[in-house]
Amino acid sequence: MSLVIHLGETDSTNNYLKKLLQEQAVEEYTIVSTDFQTAGKGQRGNGWESEPEKNLLFSMLLYPVRVKANEQFIISQIVSSGVAKALGKYTSDISIKWPNDIYWQQKKICGILIENSLSGEEIKESIAGIGINLNQEDFRSNAPNPVSLKQITGVELDRQAILNEVCNNIELYYNCMLQENNEYIISAYKDLLFRREGFHLFNDNTKDFHARIKDVRPDGILVLETETGTERKFAFKEVKYVLS
Ligand code: BTN
Repeated sequence: MSLVIHLGETDSTNNYLKKLLQEQAVEEYTIVSTDFQTAGKGQRGNGWESEPEKNLLFSMLLYPVRVKANEQFIISQIVSSGVAKALGKYTSDISIKWPNDIYWQQKKICGILIENSLSGEEIKESIAGIGINLNQEDFRSNAPNPVSLKQITGVELDRQAILNEVCNNIELYYNCMLQENNEYIISAYKDLLFRREGFHLFNDNTKDFHARIKDVRPDGILVLETETGTERKFAFKEVKYVLS
């Protein structure tokens, strides 16, 4: 069982966990969750919108000490596959939009912000911040396409139960890594990928193009194949899915 520190309010659960680590020893799998964040952090310097007491906002501490800095994408794969597998019990059409957004159909149901601190070439600790939209019904920020599980299913969700399920699934995949079974994690991740099959529209920050996903490499590079058979490789932020 993980230790759960639940806070009524905090700036950001990732920040809270980071500060706690500077003050005291914190056990692996410790979870900091909150009802409300005053400065929730998203990717690319964005914020994260969440009404008080409606959703899941939490961070989990991991010490993946044997993972090299250049292999850190496995942590994203573990966390995103764990969340997607747990949410997949509540509705169909859950997928992972590369690299680690969780989608329902063409809408974002969960955002993940993993902050790793490195010691030389190794990861000292990893703070996996997860925001899952559960019971919020109205989104006001300029986040492009949010959706909550309640909007999908029509029923009020139990935050505690889903927190447990998500954490159990993450621990399951994390244990696979500890047992050196990364193949299992990588295969689960690939099976859950958004637009895993067929040709779709992408944008390389210059123009739209049709391509299919050929691979996601262990370093997180997305390998696409265009309609003319050309292989193109992209790092995070270098390519976007074009949603319809
Ligand atoms: C994204 O932009 O997709 C990532 C969003 C991550 C939000 C979660 S909510 C809990 C944790 N604390 C934060 O400040 N951010 C993450």
